[in-house]
Amino acid sequence: MSDRRGVIGLIASAAAGTETLRTDLVEPALDRGWQVAITLTPTAATWLGHTGERARLEMLTGFLVRDELRMPGQRSPHPTADCYIVAPATANTVAKLALGISDNQALATAHEAVGSRAVPVIVFPRVNTAHAGHPAWLTHLSTLRAAGVHVLWGEGAWAPDDPGADPGARRLPAAMILDLADQVTAAR
Ligand SMILES: Cc1cc2nc3c(=O)[nH]c(=O)nc-3n(C[C@H](O)[C@H](O)[C@H](O)COP(=O)(O)O)c2cc1C
Repeated sequence: MSDRRGVIGLIASAAAGTETLRTDLVEPALDRGWQVAITLTPTAATWLGHTGERARLEMLTGFLVRDELRMPGQRSPHPTADCYIVAPATANTVAKLALGISDNQALATAHEAVGSRAVPVIVFPRVNTAHAGHPAWLTHLSTLRAAGVHVLWGEGAWAPDDPGADPGARRLPAAMILDLADQVTAAR
């Protein structure tokens, strides 16, 4: 593993594609020379714990996968990130992030990343057309974009699924996400 590019703080929530986070996003990021420190929402942690993927991710990345708030006075087990990627981001996590709700470790990390504006933040919403049809959806995206967040949504980015579509039919678009990470970190 090389640290040529630095550290991605990868924040994943419980969406389609989370089950294959290792093969579809983490391994491609490591192959590009990134280190990857992962934080999961509670539901995503349950899913990946159940399948054994959480332990595999820890072996692969060399970092603990976080999902719980640390104790006061305890140090973070993760290095400082050079870029944060929230992927896949559920409609729930996008909405909470836009509103500044940080009631789990994944949101707390993402919230501070957005608010501090210290490093680039990329959000890849993995939602269906019903999630996107919620009246607040576009406002949430606008709020995040106004704060400088790079939101992979809209023409040319990724068409939302139909509700009920086979979620396994489409893999996480690692190249699109990681190309953007390269671009926004190179620009700094
Ligand atoms: C099998 C399964 C697949 C899901 N896929 C998605 C999805 O692709 N996008 C989404 O926004 N929510 C999806 N959900 C719903 C979220 O998991 C749910 O809203 C959850 O509360 C999100 O929590 P989190 O944002 O804290 O991870 C899915 C739920 C299940 C059970």
